[in-house]
Amino acid sequence: MDTFGKIFKMTTYGKSHGPETGVRIEGCPAGLEIYLDEIQSELEKRRPGQSLVSSPRKEKDEVEILKGIINGKTTGELIELRILNKDVDLSGYRNLEYKPRPAAADFTWYKKYGYWYAFDRTGGRETASRVMAGAVAKKLLKKYNIDILAYSIEINGIRSRKSYYKDFDLIKLEEYKKTINSNSVRCIDMDVAKEMEEAIIKTKEEGDSVGGIVEVIALGVPVGVGEPNYNKLSADLYYGLGSIPAVAGIHIGLFDRVRKFGSEINDEFYIKDGEVKTKTNYSGGILGGISDGMPIVVNIGFKPTPSITKRQRTVNLKEMKETTIEIKGRHDPCIVPRAVPVVEAMTALVLADQMLLGGYIPRKTP
Ligand SMILES: Cc1cc2nc3c(=O)[nH]c(=O)nc-3n(C[C@H](O)[C@H](O)[C@H](O)COP(=O)(O)O)c2cc1C
Repeated sequence: MDTFGKIFKMTTYGKSHGPETGVRIEGCPAGLEIYLDEIQSELEKRRPGQSLVSSPRKEKDEVEILKGIINGKTTGELIELRILNKDVDLSGYRNLEYKPRPAAADFTWYKKYGYWYAFDRTGGRETASRVMAGAVAKKLLKKYNIDILAYSIEINGIRSRKSYYKDFDLIKLEEYKKTINSNSVRCIDMDVAKEMEEAIIKTKEEGDSVGGIVEVIALGVPVGVGEPNYNKLSADLYYGLGSIPAVAGIHIGLFDRVRKFGSEINDEFYIKDGEVKTKTNYSGGILGGISDGMPIVVNIGFKPTPSITKRQRTVNLKEMKETTIEIKGRHDPCIVPRAVPVVEAMTALVLADQMLLGGYIPRKTP
């Protein structure tokens, strides 16, 4: 199943070690202004080989518009975007044939699809397709004053001192965007970013990997988005974000509230300038599956990267014998920094789809 979405639909294709990685988008209204460099700048945030904390694979990830956007405007027809894979190198994987990497997709994809390199489709590279489609969804949402921002709040147990529920100030949004783009781990807290970066580099040198948490907020979502009972906004966010490889947990709102009294975390209503607001936002902007007008806040946990260079025990599936492996390929020692733009993209795709579904964005396709 390679298609996501009900109206704003993306279908992804390609794999880590194939010739290309691409996406087809259906249901994007005609007349949306979007330029190649806007899609490219989203891809830049995910591109490998940019720092010591990401995979050393050298890819330019230059996006090509194949269909559906002419002179910077969507035509309402199917859109197709693609990048070519230039630095393909399977040599690091040859000694791993039929020896599944622990915690990776190798074992289950081989058992289900019957050929060894099936797992290639679930590698980090597939997420470039999501980022390309997400760039279009983000631009569509921007037209309706919706902004999406994701950043790292925890890596290897090191917590950012700033997060939506700690020390986040919506007025400083532009400042946060600059900070996120100026450090390799995409954290909103510059001091902690250095500590996170050092922890990843140290772990990599030890042949190991670490995990962490990405926080995403969506601002400007009007009251009413979400189609209960089975297309709740919350359910679609769990579904979309949960489809990102290596996701280990998703919390909408403040997770800690499961340990609190209702009186401590119930978001009380008040009226400001004739509009109903809540004094706090522990629910993360969604009540009963429908947006309540407050920022939508989601925390997404990522497990440590499965591929580590330390020797690990596994089995040879051809010989049905126990064995060991040492992984040589190019890998991210921590998935979190590169997952940040992917989280933004999936959040945008869910919201664009839900806004179209609920009629908040008019459908305009031939
Ligand atoms: C942006 C991104 C980059 C990734 N890079 C790697 C990597 O370099 N090495 C690796 O083993 N897994 C990497 N992964 C994770 C695998 O894609 C994923 O863990 C694996 O397919 C197993 O799936 P699961 O963790 O969802 O069970 C990456 C994931 C993402 C989202």
